[in-house]
Amino acid sequence: MTQYDVIIVGSGISALTVASQLCEKMNILMITKGLKQQSNSSLAQGGIAAAIGKGDHWKFHFEDTLYAGCFHNTEKAAKELVQSGEEVISSLQQNGMQFDVNDYGELLLGREGAHRKKRIIHAGGDATGKRLIDHFLTRLNERVTLLENHMVFDIEVVNNRAIGVWVKTKENEIIFYSGAHIILATGGCGALYEVTSNSSLMTGDGLAMAYRAGATLIDMEFIQFHPTMLYIDGACKGLISETVRGEGAFLIDENGRRIMENAHPFMDLAPRDVVARVMQQEIKHGHRIFLDISNIQQFRKRFPTITRLCEENGIDVEKGRIPVAPGMHFLMGGIETDLFGRTSIERLYAVGETACTGVHGANRLASNSLLEGLVFGKRLAFYISEQPLDVMMTNAAKRFGNEKIALPSKREIQEMMMTYVGITRSNEGLSFALHYFEQFLKTPSFFTINVNGFTIEDLECMNMITVGWLIAKAAFMRKESRGGHYRIDFPKENDWWKQKRIRLSIFEHEG
Ligand code: SIN
Repeated sequence: MTQYDVIIVGSGISALTVASQLCEKMNILMITKGLKQQSNSSLAQGGIAAAIGKGDHWKFHFEDTLYAGCFHNTEKAAKELVQSGEEVISSLQQNGMQFDVNDYGELLLGREGAHRKKRIIHAGGDATGKRLIDHFLTRLNERVTLLENHMVFDIEVVNNRAIGVWVKTKENEIIFYSGAHIILATGGCGALYEVTSNSSLMTGDGLAMAYRAGATLIDMEFIQFHPTMLYIDGACKGLISETVRGEGAFLIDENGRRIMENAHPFMDLAPRDVVARVMQQEIKHGHRIFLDISNIQQFRKRFPTITRLCEENGIDVEKGRIPVAPGMHFLMGGIETDLFGRTSIERLYAVGETACTGVHGANRLASNSLLEGLVFGKRLAFYISEQPLDVMMTNAAKRFGNEKIALPSKREIQEMMMTYVGITRSNEGLSFALHYFEQFLKTPSFFTINVNGFTIEDLECMNMITVGWLIAKAAFMRKESRGGHYRIDFPKENDWWKQKRIRLSIFEHEG
């Protein structure tokens, strides 16, 4: 059968939340490009933020979310997120999810950057994402049809209504699936950058597909660089959670000098964009940066995943120093949605990192992303549960192009993004990047995918070009600095821009 009530693209926390809410009553197809455990959510170490500790309140979590987001947030979305935290955690516990607790069975709370309170709920020490994904996958069991190693490369839209998706298999077979409702839960686009905490699968496919289909994208200039990737011999080896700094670790240079001491009142727990920029400056001046973990008791027990990652890469945590550098971590912008995940195309929804409700503003507060997937996934499921399940029939004879386009290597795109559309940007650098991407985008047949001639790798590369251009374009247009967007030629926040949002749509691009 190739017709479904709901098609979900992706297998991270947002996808699984929607599926688990709807699978009793609906016929669901979940499609993922890699294996089901390979999402970014599985890699999440820190945890889930919720204001449940003594003396904490959702209002404080709300204020911290807005502060980190540089007050660019959609307040309604942020309020919905933080007010739902307590309920989300207790419903997960009722369903058997095991979080880390103390000897009295009380939840242990960690701390991360820009949180004024300890409010990070975690599992398996630093394996929260993996534990959460395993929890959902076990519960879903065989109640959805799951296709792994299948790449969704295009959305079929008729009269502004999404009616199905086009899929390419590893064997180069092309298949069309019809659905009454189509959900993009494809995560972000970390793979556009050379140094990233993301899985290499994160080539921005959902974002590029939505753009080609005519959906509006918003806030694409806001990219979060996480300060601490494990960085050895010029290569990124994975994430070192911010909860390590929350437990007392701090950033030093090769001589032991604390680099955050005079940089921000929160020092090592300043918002991520602030820490990443300080580190970039230090690196530019020839310094190497380390995370000093020597004062953390029982590091191995509290951080087993990180200990393993370090040891696999030849770093002995007993020596107390981990080499680090900032890397692309999270896209605050994405496909514009309302608080039910609805996009500008009927029956096409987006949720999680690929969506932009405005909840994170210009810079996401740590550990608000698993929470986002859980909260907005549930809201989207609720919305769909009230909608008709009619499938629009089509002969699906969409004609793809067959023209050859010379594509660059992924590496070339990653270098371009890291250099000109990275932690700091300028008019000159962004113009250069735009010009680079436009040589491909302006090829008349670029958006008419040559699906037979292109491998999955080529399709990913095209998506990277599209998303790279979207980020560079929005970054070029925003003439100020705010959160995850820093312009050396406009280094200050400008109130005029505070609530201004840059929207990009293919219709304007074509027009
Ligand atoms: C981390 O553990 O540092 C990442 C958590 C997050 O990005 O929310």
